[in-house]
Order: sequence, then structure tokens, then C-alpha cells
Amino acid sequence: MGANINYKLISFDKLSSTQTYAQNLIRSGKVSDRTIILANSQTAGHGRYRRTWVSKPGNLYVSFIYETEKRDPKLSYSVAVAIAETLISFGIMPTIKWPNDILIDGKKISGTLIEYAKDFVVVGIGINIKSNPNVRFYETTKVADFAPKISRDELLSALIKQMDIWTTRNFTSIKNRWLELAANLNKTITYRGRDAILCGLNDDGALILRCGNEYVMIYGDEISV
Ligand code: BTN
Repeated sequence: MGANINYKLISFDKLSSTQTYAQNLIRSGKVSDRTIILANSQTAGHGRYRRTWVSKPGNLYVSFIYETEKRDPKLSYSVAVAIAETLISFGIMPTIKWPNDILIDGKKISGTLIEYAKDFVVVGIGINIKSNPNVRFYETTKVADFAPKISRDELLSALIKQMDIWTTRNFTSIKNRWLELAANLNKTITYRGRDAILCGLNDDGALILRCGNEYVMIYGDEISV
């Protein structure tokens, strides 16, 4: 992995899930900060809300393990910006759907699952490169539609660099970049069945919505755009 000497990469052809493997490693006590679990395919890839993450060979399936003292609601913004910047470095212009789905032309190209175990956090990232599944809940797309020559390993290398940058930046710069990349900022979205205007982020990492005359702060929920 060239310059990415700060990370230990453990790579597999097939796993049930890089996320599950990472958590088992943490439970075994044999893990160190900045370990990356990579798989060419997964048989039980999963996402938020226990949704299946279809994981055929050709796409990126990776989990970053970081040591952490406490839960960090701001981490998902760092990760979203890191993924977006990775795509931008290859000339693909994404937007971020709160908190950390990455979209191209409104279609999902990448998702992130953040889970805590013991003194570690596991950041699972899937990026569609060669194929994109048909999903009931949203439209999807893939890197190959925009930049067919990018390999999985080039993308991973760039992602590791961006993760290194954005997981160590202060929240003001993360927030500013996130807001520049946010889909639907100052537009109407749907929150729990109601129309709301997406106004921004506060310094604790809550999304600020305006529902009628009322401002609402939300953490880790789902909005529809
Ligand atoms: C989502 O959008 O719901 C999150 C999807 C996260 C998928 C990645 S792929 C690598 C890691 N292993 C998993 O089983 N899930 C995450």
C-alpha cells in the first residue's frame, strides 16, 4: 500500500462480512488501532437498518478499525467527506446525503456503517465500482459508469489517505467541507413523513432542520430527499 504505512491491512478473498470479522478480532483482543479489513466479496454484507449489502466481487468492501475512548457523533461526517474526496480525486463529483451516503446524480454509490465494540470503532465502507445492485429503497450507481479505468486498489489507496486526513481534522473544517458537498442543503426534504428544510449542522454534529416555524436537531436518524 505504498505510503500508507500507518495502517495494517488484512486482506481476504471472501468473508461473511468485513464488519463482523473486525468485531470478532476486537473481541479476541488481537487488534491494534488503524487496522483495515478488506474482502473481495462478502456472503453476509450488511448495512444500516440491518439491510443486506449485496457484495459481489469487483467492488470495495472494507472496514477501518480505530481505537477510541468514546462514541463520536462527528465521525460519520469525517468518513463521508473522506469518501467524497476520494471520488473527487478521480474526477467524479459526488454529493453527501446525511449523514454519510454518497450519491452521484442522486443515486447511491457508497454507504457506511459505523459500529462500536469495546474500545474500538469499526467504520465499514462499501463503494460500488464494477456493479451496483437493484435496491428496493433507493437508486444506485457505480464508479465504472464515470471512470471505467479506476481499479479497486487505486480507490482503496486514495481512500486510506483521505481517511487519514479527515479523521484527524478539526470539526470546523470537516463541517465546512461536508456542507459544501451536502445534497439538498437549504432544500425541502422529508423527515418522519413531514416536509422540512435542511438548514445545516451544529457544532455537536446534529443536523438542523426547519419544520414549519420550529427548528429540530437530529442525530443518526433517516431523512428522505
Ligand atoms: C449502508 O449504506 O447501509 C451501509 C453499507 C455498509 C457496507 C459495508 S461493505 C464493508 C462493510 N462490511 C459490511 O458488512 N458492511 C460494510
